[in-house]
Amino acid sequence: MMFTPDPPWLRRFRRNLLRWYDRAGRDLPWRATRDPYAVWISEVMLQQTTVAAVKPYFERFLERFPDVAALAAADESDVLRLWEGLGYYSRGRNLHRAARVVVEQHDGRFPEDVTTLQSLPGIGRYTAGAIASFAFDVPAPIVEANTVRLYARLTGLDGDPRSTAGQRALWEFAEAIVPAKRAGAFNHALMDLGATVCTINEPRCHDCPVRSCCRAFADGRQAEIPPPKRRRQLLLTGQS
Ligand code: ADE
Repeated sequence: MMFTPDPPWLRRFRRNLLRWYDRAGRDLPWRATRDPYAVWISEVMLQQTTVAAVKPYFERFLERFPDVAALAAADESDVLRLWEGLGYYSRGRNLHRAARVVVEQHDGRFPEDVTTLQSLPGIGRYTAGAIASFAFDVPAPIVEANTVRLYARLTGLDGDPRSTAGQRALWEFAEAIVPAKRAGAFNHALMDLGATVCTINEPRCHDCPVRSCCRAFADGRQAEIPPPKRRRQLLLTGQS
């Protein structure tokens, strides 16, 4: 790993982040519950869709299919009709298939461990970590769009965080920082910090609760990390 957090760094980071989250964390509909079914639905919807767009879909979906048994018993066409407008319809089809697997193979109860969760259709490493930590407080790491940027800056990652080596380093970092207690709140806090403070453009470092833990801030490199996406670089240089 490019940066190995030591115990004093970890203590400071976790304390500052959780204190900030308790004060400034976002109040989102899917955080009012620890029901793994609701957490799962929200995370699949949020995979490629913004928080603002997901809210009404999440509420409608849970009204129509309040639990995994209701979803498993539905016709696929009814599930897809509720999905209309969200896009990426394979997500809706996988949701329905996974509900049937949970009912048929897991007695209708959601698995709590990341490996079993990842065996379900449509659940990748991120979504498995999100369900395990948000619903069950399992200390499972998460890496997604907002946290990629945050971790890259915290660790002063050189190179592309989207590359295989970059992804490996970031998952390793995420694993090293997740605490044994309050893992769900901690992971929510990471996402909120990435979404609201550690933004793509003009990150608000002076409002950041963990700037004293940040390699990029110490080096004044927060504007350069992570490097812009390749497609944009190619457009700028006129190559294709
Ligand atoms: N993006 C993906 N999952 C999220 C969550 N639980 N809260 C806010 N943004 C998210």
